[in-house]
Amino acid sequence: MTETAYQKCINPDCGAQFDCGQAMFKCPACGELLDAQYNWDKIEVPDKLSDFGKRWGNRDNPLDFSGVWRFRELLNFCDDKYKVTIGEGQTIFQQNDAVAKYVDMKPGRLYLQYEGLNPSGSFKDNGMAAAFSHAKMVAARSCACASTGNTSASVALYAHSCGLKATVFIGSGRIAFGKLSQGMDYGAQTIQIQGDFDDCMRQVQDVCTKLGLYLLNSLNPFRLEGQKAIMYRIIEGLRWEVPDWIIVPGGNLGNSSAFGKTFYELKQLGLIKRIPRMAIVNATGADMLTDLVNNKKLLWNNGRVNQAIIDDYYADLTARNFSPHTCASAIEIARPVNLKKCLRAIDICNGVVRAVTDVEICDAKAIIGKYGLGCEPASAATIAGLRRLRTEDVIGADERVACVLTGHPLKDPNVTVNYHKEKQGEFSNPPVEAPNDIDEIIKLIN
Ligand code: F0G
Repeated sequence: MTETAYQKCINPDCGAQFDCGQAMFKCPACGELLDAQYNWDKIEVPDKLSDFGKRWGNRDNPLDFSGVWRFRELLNFCDDKYKVTIGEGQTIFQQNDAVAKYVDMKPGRLYLQYEGLNPSGSFKDNGMAAAFSHAKMVAARSCACASTGNTSASVALYAHSCGLKATVFIGSGRIAFGKLSQGMDYGAQTIQIQGDFDDCMRQVQDVCTKLGLYLLNSLNPFRLEGQKAIMYRIIEGLRWEVPDWIIVPGGNLGNSSAFGKTFYELKQLGLIKRIPRMAIVNATGADMLTDLVNNKKLLWNNGRVNQAIIDDYYADLTARNFSPHTCASAIEIARPVNLKKCLRAIDICNGVVRAVTDVEICDAKAIIGKYGLGCEPASAATIAGLRRLRTEDVIGADERVACVLTGHPLKDPNVTVNYHKEKQGEFSNPPVEAPNDIDEIIKLIN
């Protein structure tokens, strides 16, 4: 029994509440998504966000060192004795004027949040620190996830770190090699299903229910609690001010959902004065959110989402045997499980949704590599999306923008090598062939 937090169904016509000591990833009453909610009056939340900064330098306490648990009062769902950390959230928040120039923004206004610097190389570790803490709290022994690669890498790493057995489900041939190698190396059992991510996602839920495995996809409300920390760290990087815009890639829509909830809570607690806007960026080969929001006009509608629009849309995908395709394999998802929470986040943040092509993604990725610390393809959708939104003048040249670069550049070397070697884009930088002769080599150096 946790006094400070509880789980609550997001469906306003249901609103069922459950103790945090239970592991269930959909409302048992109505099947909708669950949220972690807090009894804020029972939590000693600091008066101002800058108070969290005092923990920064304290490396002696692993919970202060963690870029997630440093903000623990804001995700207070379990006792310290259950909390898991392997040093997640030591990320870099970089102002980058060269990338700003590429997207036609004024100097000093664009920031890149490098989540690839996490222990397993992606933002997922923020969520896993929180979800594995919950797994320990409910005494789980075995866990599972479906993945386009990063979730599986992160699950595999956290599972062996806290003594759980992990099984990861991946689609056949759809997962970048860096990520595939991690899951195997960290000792998880990898099950490669003949199908895509959405098939894996369906299977893993049934398998978890049948075998009582702890599910670590972003259906798990506690995972999203950990991902709120990405926003706290962006605010921290801006000396405790909020940016004008957050830009995030959209796949299974866990991040965007978590970010909307973050800002809602911070405003409710009086810790921020205004909520930033959010842009969620799909790849055109997996642009269901864009289509549903921009064309089918799907809205949060105070929680009464028009389910018929979603059902018709998915029925059509099934009838057409549709499978998504993009070089940004991390976001190659057609039926995002957090769709409704994401609609809520769009409502909270006055959000916009766009889809960008693989060419735009790869060019943006090359720019982030050339002028920044690099990222994997899905992450570069943010800069491609920002460029589009600048062209449309939805985002102003002197607004302050923070892009979440979700994964490390070495996650998917194939896309990078092909882009450069095959001269696929404007910024390709292919290797130059040279004979084994010093004079000839010198002639080639420019
Ligand atoms: N960027 C990267 C690098 C990702 O790995 C993912 C999702 C996303 C963005 C999309 O985030 O789901 O919160 O909208 N990867 C999942 C996985 C699906 O299995 O690794 P989202």
